[in-house]
Amino acid sequence: MSASLPPGPRLPAWMQTAAVIAAPSRALRAARRRHGPVFRARFLGFPDQVFVATADYAQLVYATDAGGGRAGEVRRQFMDHMVGQHSLLSLDGDPWWRHRKLLSPPLHGKAISGYGEEIAEIAANDIAAWPVGRAFALRDRMQNITLEVILRLVFGIRDAERLARLRTSIPGLVELGGSAAMLMMPPRMREWTQRPPASRIPFLPSTRFLRARDAVDAILFDEIAHRRADPVPGATDVLSRLLEARDEQGRPMSDQELRDELLTMLEAGHETTATALAWTFERLLRTPEVLDRLREEVDSGEEDRYLEAVVKEALRSRSVVYDAPRLLDAPLRLGEYEIPAGWFAAPLIPLIHHDTEAFPEPEEFRPERFLGEEAARAQKAWMPFGGGRRYCVGAQLALLEMKVILRQVLRRMDLTAPDPAPERQRMRHVTFVPAKLTRVIAQPRTP
Ligand code: HEM
Repeated sequence: MSASLPPGPRLPAWMQTAAVIAAPSRALRAARRRHGPVFRARFLGFPDQVFVATADYAQLVYATDAGGGRAGEVRRQFMDHMVGQHSLLSLDGDPWWRHRKLLSPPLHGKAISGYGEEIAEIAANDIAAWPVGRAFALRDRMQNITLEVILRLVFGIRDAERLARLRTSIPGLVELGGSAAMLMMPPRMREWTQRPPASRIPFLPSTRFLRARDAVDAILFDEIAHRRADPVPGATDVLSRLLEARDEQGRPMSDQELRDELLTMLEAGHETTATALAWTFERLLRTPEVLDRLREEVDSGEEDRYLEAVVKEALRSRSVVYDAPRLLDAPLRLGEYEIPAGWFAAPLIPLIHHDTEAFPEPEEFRPERFLGEEAARAQKAWMPFGGGRRYCVGAQLALLEMKVILRQVLRRMDLTAPDPAPERQRMRHVTFVPAKLTRVIAQPRTP
């Protein structure tokens, strides 16, 4: 039997684009209900796409990483202005493989296993400054903490003045670079805005972005030069390890490559982890029996089996990153369908995480599904960090941060939600955040 194209909405591309921008979750869930687990879509300015909504189909898409699926080219269309041309996010082929081999060892579980204490200290310092007895957005505090982790443990910056300058300039850079106007701008137009005469027009958002990026670049290049000239013996931060790393030909990374990868880890690593933590608290505060069991385990200080299951369940039930697209170099067979070369193919992470075959009663927040008999089935379909060879290189750091920060908050604060209704999801930069950024009221715990 000859293969056909998958079904999908018949609406014109502009209407599909408008529907997905207005309510992404609703539009994609409706398409899945109507058309099944493999469906197509068309968005203005992009190639035809196929979305998949089960773990088995997702594995077929990830398998294209071995040759023929280009994740870098898809991401480049949105974010090369943020991370440059030598970024693990946006490279493909041999250059990507070279960077992946250089970046993986310093971010590996063993290399970062000593980071726990400093992450705990960063979290404790921030928690000490939280407002008491009045509502605030917890995600903003989580973002302060995860930014500090990147600056101190990934960039390895110790100089107080340089740290202070980055703390003030990075939020502006992330805000401007991640705005919908910059992310959704067609790549050619974005290139045009980055050169004179457009780059001299002061009020354009793109010009303000360039100025913010220049300010951060100046500090990063200066830091790289300093550290090359005067390495800190025994330093374990990621930049120190990258400075020492050599590829298979014995070549070190250039200054530009190092700068691009520092911005990559910042962009890919701090908002995502902060949002994941914000969702974890949002869910915990609406599931008191889970919060009680977790607090008991944290207070006993004995093990962290339940904590680990809570983190997994939070990353399952509220996806931070929506999809993990590949650009197909060759046709891809998905069951009875054949997807032509040149299309995007993307596992839809939240839909896969709500597939009832893998996760019965998917709307329930139930960490127990990652413990005991159900665990193997759940684990197989769990993919908050994507999959294949492009699997998130920072996943182990993110999981470590989440566990350490959760523990610190639960030990020090009693949190309540001023509004018990669940927070809806909304898009912010490249992540899906709780609509009210997890509003909480904190009271210090009595020892
Ligand atoms: C909870 C936090 C995080 C989530 C949910 C997350 C999620 C993801 C996802 C879904 C991908 C795409 C994988 C694919 O296409 O198959 C990805 C890639 C990536 N992530 Fe993360 N991430 C997180 C934290 C981090 C951290 C802390 C870092 C670095 C410090 C990081 C660095 C990267 C990089 C560099 C890539 C590109 C990898 C490649 O293409 O080879 N991420 N992440």
